Amino acid sequence: MKKLDFQSATIPYLGSKKRQCSTLASFIDPEKHKTLVSPFAGGCSFELYAKRKLSMRIFSNDWSLVSFVSQKALLENNGARISPNDIYSLFKENENSGFVSENYSKFFTDEICGFLDTASENIRRLPEGYKKHLLSHLLVFYILHILPYGKFGCTSDIRNVKARGMETALAEAARTSDSRASKLLKSVQHPLPILKKLAERINAAVTNNNENNKAYCEDAFEFLPRTKDFGKESVMLADPPYFESTSYDMYRPINEIILGRKEKKQDSVFNGKEVEAWFERFFNECQHIDLWLITYGAKIDEPNAIHSEEFLKMVKKHRPKAKLLKLENFTWSINSLSGKSPRECEEFIVIAEK
Ligand SMILES: C[S@@+](CC[C@H](N)C(=O)[O-])C[C@H]1O[C@@H](n2cnc3c(N)ncnc32)[C@H](O)[C@@H]1O
Repeated sequence: MKKLDFQSATIPYLGSKKRQCSTLASFIDPEKHKTLVSPFAGGCSFELYAKRKLSMRIFSNDWSLVSFVSQKALLENNGARISPNDIYSLFKENENSGFVSENYSKFFTDEICGFLDTASENIRRLPEGYKKHLLSHLLVFYILHILPYGKFGCTSDIRNVKARGMETALAEAARTSDSRASKLLKSVQHPLPILKKLAERINAAVTNNNENNKAYCEDAFEFLPRTKDFGKESVMLADPPYFESTSYDMYRPINEIILGRKEKKQDSVFNGKEVEAWFERFFNECQHIDLWLITYGAKIDEPNAIHSEEFLKMVKKHRPKAKLLKLENFTWSINSLSGKSPRECEEFIVIAEK
C-alpha cells in the first residue's frame, strides 16, 4: 500500500495501524460520523489519517508521554509549525542535570548525550503550547531515527565506537546489515541535518481541519467519561495493547529523556488474567459511542490470550450486531519490531454498530 505524504510525520510505533488505515476508514460513514474517539492513540497513525483524509474531529488519548506529544503536535495542533530558528534553539547552551549522559550513555555517543541533555532542557523551559509539543515530537522522532532497530536494545555499536573507533564499529555493523551500518552513521552525525529533514516531514503533516481536536494523556478509564456527550456522530477506534505485549515499556526511556527524570514502570492489565474483566468494563463505558472499531490480536499458540472468536463473543454481549474481520493478508503489525513470524499471530478488527 502506498504511503501517503503526511504518514511520514508519525513515529514508527509498536503496533502501528498505518497499513490498516484504509480498511478501518471503509467502515466509517463520513456523512454521519464526524468525531473519532481514540483511547489508545499510540503513534497516531489512524488518527492522523482520519483528520487528514476524513476531516474528522479527533478526540484522542494515550497514557504514554511519547504518544501525547505526537497527539498534541499532529492532531490537536491546527497550524503551528517548526521553523529553522526553533531547531537552532535546541542547541542553545544551558545548565542541565546531565540526565541522559548519566542514564543512557550506553545508547548514544557522548556528543549526542550532550545534545539530548541540552535540547530536552531547552524544550522543558518553553512555555506550554504547540511549539513545545512539536519540538518534543521532533526529539522523540530523532531518537527513534538514530537508534538501531528504532529501540533501546542494541548497545554494541556505540560500545564499539567508544572503545575501538568508528572505522571498526562501522565494519562490524555492516557485517550484520547495511541498515544497521547506516543507522550507526546517523547516530554519530551532527543532529542538525537529521532534525531539519524530520521537521520537514512533521510540518508537511500539520493541517487545519477547523475542528476543536483534543489530546489527553491519562488512563483510558479517566478519558472515556470526557466523551459521554458524544452519540450518533462518533466512532471509536480502540487499539489496545495485545495480550502480553509488555513491550510498550520500551518507550519509557524516551519519556524519561523528555521529562529529564526517571518514570515509574506502568503496570499493564493486558498481560494478566484480569484482561477479560477489563474489557467488560471498557465496553460498558463506551456504550454511548455509535460505532466501535476494535483492533486486537494474539499469538495463535498462546493459551491464555483472547483469540478472535472469543473476543467477538465478548463484544457481542454488548453489541449483538458485531462482526469480525480477520486481517489475513496483513503481516502482524508488531512483527517488524518484535521479530515474530506472521504465521504465529492473528490480527483482527471487530466492527460493532449500536
Ligand atoms: C497498540 S498501541 C496503539 C497503536 C496506535 N494505534 C498506532 O497506530 O500507533 C496501544 C497503546 O495503548 C496505550 N495504553 C495501554 N494501556 C493504556 C491505558 N490503560 N490507558 C491509556 N493508554 C493505554 C499504550 O501506551 C500504547 O501506546
